[in-house]
This record gives sequence, structure tokens and C-alpha cells, in this order.
Amino acid sequence: MKGLILSGGKGTRLRPITHTSAKQLVPVANKPVLFYGLEAMAAAGIVEVGIIVAPETGGEIRETTGDGSRFGLRITYIEQARPLGLAHAVLTAEPFLGEEPFVMYLGDNLLQGGIVELVAAFREHRPEALILLTPVPDPENYGVAELKDGRVVRLAEKPARPATDLALVGVYMFTPAIHDAARAITPSARGELEITDAIQHLVDSDRRVEPHVVVGWWKDTGRLDDMLEANRLVLDRVDGRVQGELVDSSCHGRVVVEPGARLERCTVRGPAIIGAGARLVDCYVGPYTAIGEDCTIERAEVEHSILLAGSSVTGLEGRMESSLLGRNVRIGRGAGQPRAYRFMVGDNSEIGIL
Ligand code: G1P
Repeated sequence: MKGLILSGGKGTRLRPITHTSAKQLVPVANKPVLFYGLEAMAAAGIVEVGIIVAPETGGEIRETTGDGSRFGLRITYIEQARPLGLAHAVLTAEPFLGEEPFVMYLGDNLLQGGIVELVAAFREHRPEALILLTPVPDPENYGVAELKDGRVVRLAEKPARPATDLALVGVYMFTPAIHDAARAITPSARGELEITDAIQHLVDSDRRVEPHVVVGWWKDTGRLDDMLEANRLVLDRVDGRVQGELVDSSCHGRVVVEPGARLERCTVRGPAIIGAGARLVDCYVGPYTAIGEDCTIERAEVEHSILLAGSSVTGLEGRMESSLLGRNVRIGRGAGQPRAYRFMVGDNSEIGIL
């Protein structure tokens, strides 16, 4: 069985971060989202994994992820010239996948329970496709499934009036029958070959599509709120470990302080993670915060936030919360006159002030 991870797409809902970086590389608890999918594959005994990348972000994904050996995987990168849909991505990967069954995992998805049991069920029951479903409050934003007597009868991609609240989770298992199904469908209203339509084609051709309702949480990290929520859910499971240096500082609850980080006169309330080389002075770090490598926080309070590597926050009067800072962002108090807000902000940024 092979693995296919989809790591293309534009990430428009996570701008401005995705102007300069792939959405699958945004860290959750200081680890790129994509790595969770790769680890899930390795845990399920899969070795050959193809990663679909876009021309714009493929280089960065390749550089960060490498040949897969550190995950115990052999990774092949496959370029999809244009984002023409998930079923188009499958067709693009057909030469790599050949006649093997495979697990397809959307690179911005996080599935708490992993895929070990699902792969076992797929091997045992041998359906043409196995799909994962979970009830959501906003099914109109997802692929939606209708079941009858435990069987899939209809699937619809982002329907205006969803028949159920069962969303398609971005993890699928297929036999090679999916290739012909992907060839048989036509582009949707958004101009994409939808995997949802390809699976519907299997259902219409009386092929067996097995539904599994996921236990545990699932997150599509496409938007800021989802990203923060994923960070919260993963941090909820971390074990505390202080390897950096604490000077007149205290950590409460489960806190990870990576080697080379230094905290002076700080209070950290976990769950939280502080990356290698970070410098924290006279500050408070609250629950559900992930501070990347080499960040600086001085005279400030930060909570429920994600800071990417190299960012700094200094001298804030109010607490910063529910924020996502990209790499090397600087937020601080201006000196001198006139007293004013000063911004140098990229496209599609969002700022909320007190
Ligand atoms: C895609 C699929 C959708 C699925 C979702 C899960 O949506 O088309 O059926 O429910 O992933 O994350 P997209 O992220 O392309 O909007």
C-alpha cells in the first residue's frame, strides 16, 4: 500500500502567511502540519509516499521534508502544474501509484486517532474506497455524505443545502479503481475535478464505498481559527519537558522548553511550547501558545497564539492573544515622537488594536 499526501493548493484562507510559505508547513505545536500526516503514514506501516506539490511551494516543501528517511519513509515529489482539484491530483500521481491501493491524506489535515485501524479495516474488508466522516456544524463548507443502512448513497461537494451534517474528512483509502472514476467525471462549478464526485462515480457504478465515522478530533487547518484550534488540541496532549534555561522563572502545568531557550523573570502557564533558541524576558506566556525557534518576547503577555521562527514581541501594554505571527515579524512599542501607530504590513494582513 502506498501513501499520497496532497500538499499543493494556494492557501488563500491563511494569507498573508501563505504569500511566502506553504500552508502545510505552518507549525502546530512547533511542527509543520504536513509532518503529522507523514508520521501517521509511517505508523500505519506505509513506506512509499508521494507528495503532490505546487510549483510555487514545492521547493520549500522538499527542502523542509527531505527524502523521508527521518520518518522511515521514501518520499517521491510529484508536481501538479495547476490546482485543478483533488481527483486531478490523483491522476497526476497515477504513474507513481500504479496498480497499488493507497491512502490519500490532505496535507493540511490533522487526525487525532491516526490511520492504523483504518488501514487495517481497508485491508480486511477490501472495499473500492474507504471514506472518513465526522459530524460538523457547518457541512456546507465540506464534502457531505448521505448514508442509508450504513452504506454511502450520495456525496455532494460543498452543497448549499446539505442533506446531513456528515463532512468528508480529508483522509481516503482507494484501490486503483479511483483512476478510471477520476477520468470519468467533469470539473465542478469551481473548475476542479472533485474527489467527492469521483467517489460518487464509484457508488453509481455499484462499487463498494465503506464509510467510517471518526472517533476523536479532526481538523482541517485551512483558516486561522482552525489553526489555533489544532494548536490547542495538540498542545493538550504534550508532556512537559524543560531543557532550556530558567532564570527566576516558573513553568506551571505541561510546558516544553527546548534546549537553548532562555527564560528570565517569566511565568509560563501550560500547555505551551517554547522553541530552541527563544529568548523570553519579563513576560507571561499563557496556555495554548507555541513559540517558534529564536523568537524574542520581552515585557509582554502572550496567550493562545502561534509565533513562527524569529519573531519578536516587545513592550506591549495589553495581552496578545489568538494571534498567528509569521516568520521574523516584529511587534513592539515605538519610541519617540509623534506618538503614533506605525505599521509595515504585507498584503492581506489583519491587525486588531486595543
Ligand atoms: C476538500 C474536499 C472536501 C473535504 C475537505 C476536508 O475541501 O474537497 O470534500 O471535506 O477537503 O478538509 P477543500 O479543502 O478543497 O475546500
